[in-house]
Amino acid sequence: MVAFRSLCIACFVFISSLVMANEGMWLPLLLEKLNEKEMKGMGMKISAKDIYNVNRGSLKDAIVSFGGFCTGEVISSKGLVLTNHHCGLDAIQSHSTIDHNYIRDGFWAKNYAEELPNPKLYVSFIIRIEDVTKQILAGVTASMSESERQLVTDKNIAAIRSTVKKESYQEASVKSFFEANQYYLFITETYKDVRLVGAPPSSIGNFGQDTDNWMWPRHTGDFSMFRIYAGKDNKPAEYSADNVPYIPKRSLAISLDGVNEGDFTMVLGFPGKTMEYMHSEAIRQTMEVNNPAKIAIRDKALAVMDGFMRKDEQIKIQYTKKYATISNAWKKWKGEIPGLIRTQALEKRKAYEAEFQKRVNANMEWKSQYGNLLSELEAAWKEIEPLARARDYYLEINSKIELFTVARRVNALRNAKNNGSKYDYSEGLTKLKDTLTELYKNFNPVVDRQLFESLITMYVNDQDNRIVSPLLMDYFKAAGKDFRKLADDIYGTAEYVSGSKMMTALEQNPQELIERSKTIKASLLYEDMLATYNKEVAAKLNEVQARINRLQRTYMQAQMEVKKEKKFYPDANSTLRLTYGNVKGYSARDGVKYDFYTHLDGAMEKYIPGDYEFDVPEKLRSLYKNKDYGQYGKNGKMPVCFVAANHTTGGNSGSPALDAYGNLVGLNFDRAWEGVMSDISYDPSICRNIMVDIRYVLFIIDKYAGAGHLVREMKLVHPKKK
Ligand code: ARG
Ligand code: GLU
Repeated sequence: MVAFRSLCIACFVFISSLVMANEGMWLPLLLEKLNEKEMKGMGMKISAKDIYNVNRGSLKDAIVSFGGFCTGEVISSKGLVLTNHHCGLDAIQSHSTIDHNYIRDGFWAKNYAEELPNPKLYVSFIIRIEDVTKQILAGVTASMSESERQLVTDKNIAAIRSTVKKESYQEASVKSFFEANQYYLFITETYKDVRLVGAPPSSIGNFGQDTDNWMWPRHTGDFSMFRIYAGKDNKPAEYSADNVPYIPKRSLAISLDGVNEGDFTMVLGFPGKTMEYMHSEAIRQTMEVNNPAKIAIRDKALAVMDGFMRKDEQIKIQYTKKYATISNAWKKWKGEIPGLIRTQALEKRKAYEAEFQKRVNANMEWKSQYGNLLSELEAAWKEIEPLARARDYYLEINSKIELFTVARRVNALRNAKNNGSKYDYSEGLTKLKDTLTELYKNFNPVVDRQLFESLITMYVNDQDNRIVSPLLMDYFKAAGKDFRKLADDIYGTAEYVSGSKMMTALEQNPQELIERSKTIKASLLYEDMLATYNKEVAAKLNEVQARINRLQRTYMQAQMEVKKEKKFYPDANSTLRLTYGNVKGYSARDGVKYDFYTHLDGAMEKYIPGDYEFDVPEKLRSLYKNKDYGQYGKNGKMPVCFVAANHTTGGNSGSPALDAYGNLVGLNFDRAWEGVMSDISYDPSICRNIMVDIRYVLFIIDKYAGAGHLVREMKLVHPKKK
């Protein structure tokens, strides 16, 4: 039985590597060569050149990296940009106060003058992409160590960046692909004056919040709108009240026809990070070690924050974004484990490796070059297991305690001052003040103290003594081995807990405060935890990680050589990619089949008056009651979200979902729970991306918010009525 099963898995892997349509995040400049034929076969009506073309306008000219963490698309000739609500949340939050609570109530600018600037936000367009592998690898030899190799490639990258042909207002960057086997150059244009135009209330934009997050069926209107401003010459410019709405090379037409089951769709955006070519041992550790450790820590952190947020409106505003960020990855990690188990990802990866090894062994040259690769990779992964767990513990715990963030910043300035000859102290001080001003806006000492108490308890109790900070243990003993007392001691004495005191001290006598940080317990503790981590974990971890990177690079190269029949796509790395797949529902589990569409009726079914997550605004309820959907409804119903088999990941949020003609039909914002393991192992049977139907977005803008003037800026089309 077992033998039979693994045999079947082996043949499945072999066949699927030939035909796995839907999997893949493809480089736009290679579409013509690798994908166009298949895309047309699946229903695409335009050509690869309509998507990516450097000589004339193409769809890519309407796509932006939104702040480097999400995707956005231009949807009007006046620089209007659409992205997700959760992508715009930082901006929305920064303009919100108890009196003007745009998170709770939404925000709509009635004219240009009311659009709100966001100092740190930017959008970048891709002008062109070039393969520069040869130039970057010039001078690299097989015998080089990782750091030697890095020196050579860094030097080559710097040379290309300084000599490449581009306009003065454009940027050049080089990124590595396929585990640094290939390199591509990106010429980009970055606009830094990006203003908030509109956002629905979170009861629409984040309807269902964390309960529904990563889940299908979904009823969230996850969108917000911005506008790009440019200098009078339409070129990138720093923020100025005199800037004007940007006139784009290309903006997307919007289809009012929706999609049917089976329709071709594609998503063009900036996926952040995937690990599709990991060794099976790494998959096992993700499932059994790393995810469980990180989940346990975040369970605690989330429980602490939630307790306070439910009781206090001010804390809710301050912690909304932090909570959403922590819970988002936490929930995805939780979903990855059953997804990997259910799709037999580990077994399939092992079968894939066995097939690779078999082919390698059958070829003398490959055998001498790649014969030991897999066993060496496995050994290195085993070696890194305890180190990686310690890393997860250290990073997860440290980053949740904001007292440590303050300590880290203050310590960094002190250390830089004490050792740096070239260091610009006054600039460092200004930066510190800026960072802390932002941090304290959303800081509550009582919440942070409780986070400290809960998480430090885990740091001490769940870990080997050797990797626990000795100074922490001293403080702990002095507190009678009572974590609550320990937290009181640290927070009771640290002036870091008071934003106003800190900011006053930094204004009046910064030198003195920076020096005094040497005696502040929080600073000392942060320093000792870091030193312990560096000494006991990081040094060894980095050494093994470098070895894994090197092996993994060779393994990637070997796979491409040995599995010639397979089309490879590079792991996501926040560069522009295209993924395509058909609209379809899926079987979630035994006896449960999901439709591909949801409607406003479903939001009403979920509606819980006054609820934290499932409230529905009065106006929306009345539009629903009167079926007042204007041109956006279909057969008396209001479509809300749909799913398709596009291979997406974090960073694809806000990406346009395009129909067969390249018209905008939806806005990508999530993946369905059963398939979130697609970052590690994609399975076409259950991996689905979730999009909000563009008609729901327009309905909310027009009918709900009364901002029809924005819709009038857009180009609406009916491709199905042609
Ligand atoms: N899961 C989606 C993504 O990864 C949406 C996150 C925002 N929504 C939320 N409820 N936290 O970004
Ligand atoms: N919500 C995700 C984002 O912020 C996209 C969902 C996913 O990870 O696929 O990019």
